[in-house]
Amino acid sequence: MKDSHDSELSRREFIGGTGAAIVAANATSLNAQERAGETVGEQALEDVPRSTIALTVNGTEHRIEVEDRWTLTELLRDHLGLTGTRMGCNRGECGSCTVLLDGEPVYSCSTLAVWADGRSVRTVDGLAVNGQVTNLQQAFMNHNAPQCGFCTSGQLMSATALLERNATPTMQEIRQALAGNLCRCSNYNAIVEAVQTAAATGGA
Ligand code: FES
Ligand code: FES
Repeated sequence: MKDSHDSELSRREFIGGTGAAIVAANATSLNAQERAGETVGEQALEDVPRSTIALTVNGTEHRIEVEDRWTLTELLRDHLGLTGTRMGCNRGECGSCTVLLDGEPVYSCSTLAVWADGRSVRTVDGLAVNGQVTNLQQAFMNHNAPQCGFCTSGQLMSATALLERNATPTMQEIRQALAGNLCRCSNYNAIVEAVQTAAATGGA
């Protein structure tokens, strides 16, 4: 006849045995999942379409193999080390990732790297030369246009494109050119004033 001690032991044994079984079952299932994951991962990596593209970035020519799914932001930041371009929303809404593609502002998060093949890209990293900031960058500093600064590189690139095609923009034209660049700090007046000052003192 079993006493309460036996019954306690039995429960322990049962729980212990069940626990071991659960651990073993989970380990088996995890191993199987890991193996499956590795296989899927390896296959996925091998199957990713790739292309070799040639492009000029801030005046430097690059010939590079890219995955066809890479965005221009990924290429610039993760593979060319140009981290001045910021990634905000990553879905074409905020403009923080703005770069110039053949002189025109584009959202690099919504532009595939392969679309830049044979083209010229300019990023904020290429504005200052030998540590000398551009007139526009200096105007941004003078007007305290960067607050947290997250939107600044995108704002600078849109404003650079504007001033290069229109040396004397009106206030309305500046606002229009920067309409695709959101500033979460809401420092819009200072940003527009900085672009106005740059236009009045020598352009971009
Ligand atoms: S990160 Fe590209 S538009 Fe926001
Ligand atoms: S300065 Fe902070 S988001 Fe524009």
